[in-house]
Amino acid sequence: MNTALFDRVSNVQADLLVVFVPSEGVLPESTAWVDGNADGQLLQLRESGVFKAGLGQTLLLPSVTQDFSQPVLLVGLGKGEALSDMQARKVVAAVAAAVKGLPFADVALASSALQVKNRTASEVTALVAQWLNEGFYNFLGFKQDDAEKATKVTTLLLEGSEESALKIGAATASGSAFARQLGNLPGNVCTPSYLASKAQHFEEEYGIDVELLDETKMDELGMHCLLSVGRGSDQPSYLIVMHYRGGEEGDAPHVLLGKGITFDTGGISLKPGAKMDEMKYDMCGAASVFGTMKTICELKPKLNFTAVVAAAENMPSGRATKPGDIVKTMSGKTVEVLNTDAEGRLVLCDALTYIERFQPKSVVDIATLTGACVVALGSVNSGMYANNDDLAADLKAASQTSADKIWQMPLDEEYQQQLDSNFADIGNIGGPEAGSVTAACFLSRFTQSYPWAHLDIAGSAWTGGAAKGASGRPVALLTRYLLDKAN
Ligand code: BES
Ligand code: MN
Ligand code: ZN
Repeated sequence: MNTALFDRVSNVQADLLVVFVPSEGVLPESTAWVDGNADGQLLQLRESGVFKAGLGQTLLLPSVTQDFSQPVLLVGLGKGEALSDMQARKVVAAVAAAVKGLPFADVALASSALQVKNRTASEVTALVAQWLNEGFYNFLGFKQDDAEKATKVTTLLLEGSEESALKIGAATASGSAFARQLGNLPGNVCTPSYLASKAQHFEEEYGIDVELLDETKMDELGMHCLLSVGRGSDQPSYLIVMHYRGGEEGDAPHVLLGKGITFDTGGISLKPGAKMDEMKYDMCGAASVFGTMKTICELKPKLNFTAVVAAAENMPSGRATKPGDIVKTMSGKTVEVLNTDAEGRLVLCDALTYIERFQPKSVVDIATLTGACVVALGSVNSGMYANNDDLAADLKAASQTSADKIWQMPLDEEYQQQLDSNFADIGNIGGPEAGSVTAACFLSRFTQSYPWAHLDIAGSAWTGGAAKGASGRPVALLTRYLLDKAN
């Protein structure tokens, strides 16, 4: 989909014009212009109560008058004051939902009428471009009647003047759509090898450097902890490394690491059957890293960025790792695998050690790591942990700008003793209390040589219920974080 800017509604050619209507008071400039051409019909519709212009309410006018026959979509803004992020998102989602089912290719949106609290016009442009494009996402390819459901919009026009903001918003949406697609793919399609093949596609498409470490290579490197997770699976594990080099040669990279468990049965510590299908989302950390790489490759900022994905499938079998097994990590520390369902930390710890060789400026890992994080924060905030205050502050700033929420969680050393083991250097679970914290504590044992943060996205990466699906988070946050680091 193309996204472009136009200066004013009177100049734009489109199949559908989307204008915003507050429930009271004067109409925004572009809406007033349409109203003028429509013999005052818009105001009449509002005054008569036929279209009350409540927040996110929409009404399609297929043909307004004989002289002004362009279809118009009215979108309610409620009381017409500056909106919160949540309200603005609701309005934009309503536009996308209304437009999605219509047969129009070129859609123009009079977006300057959208005022958002504490946000500049260019921030609003970026967010609206992102949210609209995200709203047009469809998961296609697995139902017989998919072709009819595909979104028809090919060009999206926004009113405004910030070309760069528009580009950032559209590219972020394309990365987030990529992440959602990977997340939504079933485990029998999206395997560790499939993720590795996607990295190879990126290499061809964007000219980045890709290294795939297979099981033999990882064995040579001593990544026995990572390998212990895929032991029960017929699918081989991979460590996937992608280098985007937009900065100075030799400049240390910022590194993102994603948990890529393409299906998490729990292993021998088998999960209950109900909703186990949802564990296909256990690679959403990896998906967000791929999505961010796509966005960065489209935007080409000046920085060096390395994306790493630890990919494995967690299955029970005669070869699977058993509770009580002791494995040696690449760092030399031994781990007692008390619960094979606490597998994310086992793949991440060896990847975190591997990353040391890049002497990174910062490392952020992203993982659907714990059910405990879902209990603590729900799907609103991703849990954020950091061993470095500057990095934590940078992530909070990026989170604010991108409207992709995070909440900092504690890493006090008092929690560390919950990981003590009688038989190895460290146990892989910390008991029932503070489960998200002790998972982060486990990772912190492997990140002492660089500024590190961990995002637990178990709650934020996907939505349950009727709207079940991957959310694409936190691609927007990670993209903003990296753009803020570019020269
Ligand atoms: N992938 C899960 C975490 C998860 C749970 C993500 C629910 C999304 C929704 C992870 O591998 C896991 O199973 N964690 C265990 C850890 C426990 C055994 C210490 C958990 O949270 O129950
Ligand atoms: Mn698990
Ligand atoms: Zn898992």
